[in-house]
Amino acid sequence: MKRNPLFFNVSEKYLFHEVKTRVEAFKKSHPDAQIISLGIGDTTKPLAPTISNALQEIGQGMGTSQGYKGYGPELGLVELREKIIKTLYPQISWLDSDEVFISDGAKSDIGRLQILFGDTTPVALQEPSYPAYFDSSLMIRQKRPITLSCVPTPNGTSRLLLDTLPKGSLVFICSPNNPTGTVFTRSELKEYIEISKMNGHILVFDVAYREYILEGSDLPRSIYEIPGAEEVAIEVGSFSKSCGFSGIRLGWTVVPKALRYADGHSVNKDFTRLITTLFNGASYISQKAGIIALSEQGRKETLEQVSLYKESTKKLKKALLERGAKVYGGDHAPYVWVEIDTLTGWSSFDYFLSKAHIVTTPGIGFGPSGEKFLRMSGFARSDDIDESINRILKLNLRNPIE
Ligand code: MLT
Repeated sequence: MKRNPLFFNVSEKYLFHEVKTRVEAFKKSHPDAQIISLGIGDTTKPLAPTISNALQEIGQGMGTSQGYKGYGPELGLVELREKIIKTLYPQISWLDSDEVFISDGAKSDIGRLQILFGDTTPVALQEPSYPAYFDSSLMIRQKRPITLSCVPTPNGTSRLLLDTLPKGSLVFICSPNNPTGTVFTRSELKEYIEISKMNGHILVFDVAYREYILEGSDLPRSIYEIPGAEEVAIEVGSFSKSCGFSGIRLGWTVVPKALRYADGHSVNKDFTRLITTLFNGASYISQKAGIIALSEQGRKETLEQVSLYKESTKKLKKALLERGAKVYGGDHAPYVWVEIDTLTGWSSFDYFLSKAHIVTTPGIGFGPSGEKFLRMSGFARSDDIDESINRILKLNLRNPIE
């Protein structure tokens, strides 16, 4: 059989797989190095007690004939879909449970959405951005995604030029943005919705980091907080970063019934068709755990963990600034986006790994405009964050010597 030619356009390894390979090689040549990972954005705190206890009960229940469950409802447990609406979208009056699709994580649904819109739809994405948008588009389409620059500068971040895209584009955006931490304001989103309506674009709005937006700020946690978004936007959410579910796997995608193709067909109906064909639903255990995570006690415990990750990110940012780096993000996101003069591409990654035994993610992995940056994650264990800060405080980031 011939290789799928689209795979010639994809780099050999996915970004975090490449990072892992390089770290493994470094470990081989430096077996005594005490390496700390501030690389991939993976949670490290143990599951909140309410969730962990519930999981044990759910597991026990599955071992009884009354409690055993096989396949669930195709779109996910109704109780979970309703709980998501009540807890995360209390102000969205039009949202119905058959517009909420439960997934095994945001990344899987990003891939499924690529299939939904097919190989001829023009795709655009924020750049820098989560590499899964770009790579999954390359696996479906011959044409490369169009990039919309959103590099933060001391004077702010440029607006996305959605009016320059071909009509009927599929646009991936993430707010708070991974990796830069930038959050779209209400007025920016209002503008993007209006432009999308006029041009027939569909926005895929990724809210994986919504709980990291500072309490009390007016920044939107959902695109549906802006009237009219239901006619142009799909929203993808995740339990990974807000509830520590990266190993449990649970997410959701909202596809409003008001969202239509140019010929009037319902996108929601097509997505239902696709999901019921390609996916048999998230596991019963993860969905029941998701319901508990959204209970009052579950929310209290998980949001406390989010606050601790935010605290760690803030401490990291302070240390980096103190040593002379330019640092963006970190206020509404668990990541800091760091610019260090003279360190570009993978050299910034190599610098931190060799000088401080700290794993970072090179900005270039999020797109070419990340060339002069690197990303550090605040998801590491608190003692690892403190040790990383000790090591960072010994570096001269104003004038690093490779
Ligand atoms: C990241 O580190 O950018 C991501 O969070 C990893 C992921 O969610 O796939």
